[in-house]
Amino acid sequence: IDISTLRSVTGGVTTIDAGFKNTSSCKSAITFLDGEKGILRYRGYAIEELAEKADFLEVSYLLIFGELPTKAQNDKFHRDIQKQSLVDTDVKKILDGFPKTAHPMGVVSALTSALTAFNAKSVNVDSEEEMYDAVVKILAKLPVLASWAYRKEEGLPLEYGDSSLGYVENFLKMMFDLPNEEYKSNPVIVEALDKLLILHADHEQNCSTSTVRVAGSSHAGLFASISAGISALWGPLHGGANQAVIEMLEAIKEDGGGYEKYIEKAKDKNDPFRLMGFGHRVYKNFDPRAKIIKVAADEVLADLGIEDPVLDIARGLADVALNDEYFKSRNLYPNVDFYSGIIYRALGIPIPMFTVMFAIGRLPGWIAQWREMRLNKEPIGRPRQVYVGATERPFVDVEKR
Ligand code: ACO
Repeated sequence: IDISTLRSVTGGVTTIDAGFKNTSSCKSAITFLDGEKGILRYRGYAIEELAEKADFLEVSYLLIFGELPTKAQNDKFHRDIQKQSLVDTDVKKILDGFPKTAHPMGVVSALTSALTAFNAKSVNVDSEEEMYDAVVKILAKLPVLASWAYRKEEGLPLEYGDSSLGYVENFLKMMFDLPNEEYKSNPVIVEALDKLLILHADHEQNCSTSTVRVAGSSHAGLFASISAGISALWGPLHGGANQAVIEMLEAIKEDGGGYEKYIEKAKDKNDPFRLMGFGHRVYKNFDPRAKIIKVAADEVLADLGIEDPVLDIARGLADVALNDEYFKSRNLYPNVDFYSGIIYRALGIPIPMFTVMFAIGRLPGWIAQWREMRLNKEPIGRPRQVYVGATERPFVDVEKR
C-alpha cells in the first residue's frame, strides 16, 4: 500500500516524528551506516579501508559516480579539477561587500550560491557529461572560495593555488601562503587533513544532506542546493559542533581548567549545557570515524610537538566522560567533531574556519545525494504536519481588537 492510499483509507491519519528519528526519506545506495554496531561504508567499502588507502578525490569519485575510478579516470579527474580552479573575478566584488567580521560559513554559502549566476546553465542530471562538468567545477572552486573567506577575514590578498599540487596541499597553500613566502606543507598534516575530509565525505541523511535533497527536489540547481546545505551545516548541533568544541574547551581553560565541573553541568537536567562533541543521533556505539581520527590527531600532535593546555583538557574530559555512568548509559561517546576540532587547532586553522573545513569534506556527499535524488526521480519533499493552532475564528476589525 502506498502512502497516499494509506492516507485516504485512514481518513487522513498521519504519523508525527519530530526530528525524523525513525523516518526514512528515501532509498539510497550511497552510504551504509549501522549506528548500533558502529559501521560506516561508502558504496560498500569500509570507512577504515578508504581512510587508510584512498585519497579524498578518489573517495569523491566513488561517492558521486558509484565506483572507484580506474587509474586513467582518477588521473583525468585530478587534472580536470586542477583546470577548473579559477573563479570568475566578479565573485571577488561580492566578497568585497562582506564585512571582515562576517562568519566564513555565511560568506562561503553566499559565494557558492553566487556561482550559479556565473555558471547559469542548470545541470542536466541525465547527461553524464554535464554532471561530470558540474562536479569538477564545484569540487575545484569551493576550496578557493573557502580560502578567500579566510584571507578576507585576515586582510590578506586573495590568491589562487598551484594547480600542480594535490587537492589538500593546494588548499593549504591557498590558505597559508603569504605573498613572497614559500609555503612548505608537512606530509603528516596533508595526510591527516585528507583523512579528515574522507571521514566527513558522506553520512547518509544527516541534516545538511537532507537539506540538499529537499532543496534539490524542487529541481533547484546543484550549486543552489549545496549552498542551502552549507547553511544547514553551520548550526552548532551539526557541523558547527567542531567550533563549539574548541570554544567550550577554551572556556574551561579560562575557568581554571577544571573540567569535572562541566561534566556535572552536562549531567544536570536543569542546566542547558551539553558537552560539545559528545553524542550522535545515529551512533549509539563509538563513532567509527572518531576512532580513526583520534589516531591521526595523536600523530599530528606528536609530529608538530604541540603542547597545548586546551588539548590536555580535551584528553582529560574524554577519559572521565567515557567512564561516567551518565554518558555510558546514554551511549554518549566523543564524535568525529570532538577530534577534528583538535586537529584543526593544531594545524593553525582559525576557529571560524572549522565548519568550512567540514563543508569541503561533505561536498562530494552532497553532490552524490543530489544526483541520486534526481536520477531516482524523487517527488518534491513536502512533509505534512499535525495542526495544533486555533480552531476557526471570525475576523475582528482592527478598531475592535
Ligand atoms: N551532553 C550531555 N548530555 C547529552 C549530550 C551531550 N552532548 N547529548 C545527548 N545528551 C543526553 C540528552 O540530554 C538525553 O538525556 P535524557 O535521555 O536523560 O533526556 C540523551 O542524552 C539523548 O539525547 P538526545 O538529545 O535525545 O539525542 P539526539 O539524538 O536528539 O541528539 C545530538 C544528538 C544533537 C548530537 C546531541 O547528542 C548533542 O547535542 N550533542 C552535542 C552537539 C554535537 O556534538 N553535535 C555534533 C553531532 S555530529 C555531527 O554533526 C557530525
